[in-house]
Amino acid sequence: MKHFLSIEDCPKDFLKELLRLSTRLKSLYSYNGEDLCLKGKTLAMLFEKPSLRTRISFQVAMSNLGGTAIYVKPEDIGGIGKREPVKDMARVLSRYVTGIMARTFEHSTVTELAEYATVPVINALTDWSHPCQAMADVLTIREHCEDEEGKKIAFIGDGNNVARSLAFACAKLGMKMVVASPAGYELDDESIEKANQLSADCVRQTNDPGNAVLDADIIYTDTWVSMGQEDEKQKRQADFAGFQVNAELVKSAPDNVKIMHCLPAYRGLEITDEVVESPNSIMFDQAENRLHFQRALLKKLLS
Ligand code: CP
Ligand code: NVA
Repeated sequence: MKHFLSIEDCPKDFLKELLRLSTRLKSLYSYNGEDLCLKGKTLAMLFEKPSLRTRISFQVAMSNLGGTAIYVKPEDIGGIGKREPVKDMARVLSRYVTGIMARTFEHSTVTELAEYATVPVINALTDWSHPCQAMADVLTIREHCEDEEGKKIAFIGDGNNVARSLAFACAKLGMKMVVASPAGYELDDESIEKANQLSADCVRQTNDPGNAVLDADIIYTDTWVSMGQEDEKQKRQADFAGFQVNAELVKSAPDNVKIMHCLPAYRGLEITDEVVESPNSIMFDQAENRLHFQRALLKKLLS
């Protein structure tokens, strides 16, 4: 039994295999084929935070593969870890379903679920990481840049959960990343060190977005205010001024630079509408690939 909690803990070969399987299933389903490997299987999906892409793409992926997804809001079950301990939830759910996916605030909630569950547990975003997003991102880079190997990502903005998983994906899959953040919002040193231990000089931090994009193949950004940080909104918006992905910043990058965003995008803040809608933007292919990657992940873990 395998969980999918963090990219840094997955062997490189497993990640590569997931990418190959994503491509295979993407072409199968694009040509009206089907693979009902999850017939009779069920996935419990626990969400402490809102979601469009993750929730719908996991639900569609389960249904495509012949299985069923059950969406669980914390209020339906009296809160995660509130009405009963997380470890009890994990053991009870394991008696009913084939897999558990969870989007939580604390990362320790998903690791505790995994510790006690006897079925695979999938991290669907925590305050710490977003591994399903990073893998769909690599799939998108592979499709738009021929190969992910050797590509350089300039991540502009908050050194957050999305940045962290992407850094580990770069370390595992032969890419490089520079993270340009305002002082105080950098990716933590421990994560950078870990990524660089996995792959020497893979991740670098700077406070200069203009310099970060100079030789970038991809410019990537995410919200300045992640779910759960709403109280810091005003301060963050002031602190991140100068870190917007706009036409001027894109002009400093090579002409064919691709623009990525995990979405939802806050136009006029971390990115302009013009850049979201520009021909260089690949963010809707990126969003679509969430479905293709997760079909592969579910097939691999649950069938
Ligand atoms: N990118 C992403 O995870 O989107 P949702 O929050 O809508 O799931
Ligand atoms: N960093 C964002 C990602 C949303 C998909 C958040 O955690 O809210």
